[in-house]
Amino acid sequence: MCGIVGYVGKSNAYDILVKGLHRLEYRGYDSAGVAMVNDSGKLNVYKTLGKVSNLENFCSDKDKSGCTGIAHTRWATHGEPSDCNAHPHFSEDGEIALVHNGTIENYKVLKDALIQNGCTFQSETDTEVLVQLIEYIRTHNDCSLLDAVREALRQVVGAYAIAVIEKNNPDTIIAARKSSPLVIGIGEGEMFLASDATPIVEYTKNVVYVKDNEIAVISRNEPLKLMNLDNEETKIDVKTLEISISQLEKGGYPHFMLKEIFEQPNTLRDCIRGRVVENGNRIIISGVQDSKEKFLNAKRIIIVACGTSWHASLIGKYLIQDMCRIPVEVEYASEFRYSSPVIDDRDVVIAVSQSGETADTLAAIQMAREAGAYVYGISNVVGSSIPRNTDSGTYIHVGPEIGVASTKAFTGQVMVLTLVALAIAELKGTMTAEQIAEIGSTLKKIPDYVAETLKLNDQIERLSLIYTYAHNFLYLGRGYSYPVAMEGALKLKEISYIHAEGYPAAEMKHGPIALIDAEMPTVIIAPNDHLYEKIVNNVQQVKARHGSVIAIVTEGDKEIRNIADHVIEVPAVPECLTPIITSIPLQLLSYYIAINKGKNVDMPRNLAKSVTVE
Ligand code: F6R
Repeated sequence: MCGIVGYVGKSNAYDILVKGLHRLEYRGYDSAGVAMVNDSGKLNVYKTLGKVSNLENFCSDKDKSGCTGIAHTRWATHGEPSDCNAHPHFSEDGEIALVHNGTIENYKVLKDALIQNGCTFQSETDTEVLVQLIEYIRTHNDCSLLDAVREALRQVVGAYAIAVIEKNNPDTIIAARKSSPLVIGIGEGEMFLASDATPIVEYTKNVVYVKDNEIAVISRNEPLKLMNLDNEETKIDVKTLEISISQLEKGGYPHFMLKEIFEQPNTLRDCIRGRVVENGNRIIISGVQDSKEKFLNAKRIIIVACGTSWHASLIGKYLIQDMCRIPVEVEYASEFRYSSPVIDDRDVVIAVSQSGETADTLAAIQMAREAGAYVYGISNVVGSSIPRNTDSGTYIHVGPEIGVASTKAFTGQVMVLTLVALAIAELKGTMTAEQIAEIGSTLKKIPDYVAETLKLNDQIERLSLIYTYAHNFLYLGRGYSYPVAMEGALKLKEISYIHAEGYPAAEMKHGPIALIDAEMPTVIIAPNDHLYEKIVNNVQQVKARHGSVIAIVTEGDKEIRNIADHVIEVPAVPECLTPIITSIPLQLLSYYIAINKGKNVDMPRNLAKSVTVE
């Protein structure tokens, strides 16, 4: 949700800022802007509607001098996407420019007060209030920018990562965060800031993750300074980045999404490395082993997540209930936090999130911790807020996911949930050593089975041509395949803008069956599991109403191939591991349908990858 970048050093800031914006564009892309201050004390602000490439065209003939600057790529919350609402916003006297990721909840009250004091506003955003407030405080208190920012932040309610520069100080950026991510990169005679580490990694591996309520003074010539809102210096903890540049580029693929789909054999290998050992006989998940007592005594596990991560969590419920015999509830984090949840210290809450920054998931875990629950995080982005705000947890280690539609993170989450379930089952003794070894040995082969499944690419590309112009799709599955159906439908919706519904197959007869006709394709996930015969019936029910059926089946399937219009055959794996395999053809199907429709799969309209606002 919005990306911010900043640079102070010896090089031209514009080039670094724009490159950084391209890396952060997955966070929002309805408008973009930059502000640079040069050594002659000139502050240039350029901003425009549309993607970062529009901004580059707009700036082509402009003065881009200056070795200090800030930049922003926006996902609109307050005020429609427009040139005027784009960031950076600047103070009325043109002396201060500011970029912001987050929402200022009390902006209306602050704005009314500033208007009463004679301030005029250019935009409809909540952010402009912040920059005008900073100017107002600086002028009326005759104080430094740092003091004015600190005082302004004391008055603000909401979430923010901000970066502020001023005309008369080309050496310094003031930045701060609360509930929105902010990373500072420390180079030789230069410093960087960004919403995540991707714009920083090609310049330095040394980073500092700014904490909530911290303000940073980022200067060309001085060491980094961090302080709290009471002006007390806080500790600087420098971490080393583990991502590489090649992980951030398309590597010959036309889109990040396709690259990420095809990376899955490797990402799953990375995900299980060191965790499935002794030929699959032992599962080592240190987070679980360190939380042994909590999992052994858990009366219930609640999994909180959003979107695709919520679908992975539903699979987690089946896994944990099957393997560990602990009751599991799966909640949308956004509902959980407002549902007066009844939680106590015998509950274990698991938060699942690719970005580790989703605002609702963070709020849900905060609430769970306050109620005494033990909180376990499953995330991808190392150093993000969820791993820093949970008692223990596991990274999925699938590398940066740039495509807005989640693919490799989903299979990584399902893999980690499988490992967590097996590790708990081992602790609790709810599975025998033989049962664990049977699943464990197949887990090691999963990357190869995924590679095998990816060979279906050409078949699925051809199939996509038949269904590109359907207006509605139904996705059906049962048991472990029900969340897979929902995830397949979500993938199609978000990148092709075709309406699709994922449903438990048996529920079809309670409503959605009314929709079935020759115009509406149904995708049925029907691996050879204990519900296979039941789902054969569901396929018959669709065919009896002249619906066309695309079925994902296990290799060698006999029955469904005779009834369905198209079958996609995937390798046979134990039932609990089918979601990782059956989700692959659905990712490819949505990708090719969206491509056939000419859609931008990496940046679908209205979406942002990291949802750091409510
Ligand atoms: C869909 C997608 C989103 C995210 C959701 C949660 O493809 O990516 O639905 O899953 O916004 O994000 P994280 O996992 O970062 O908490």
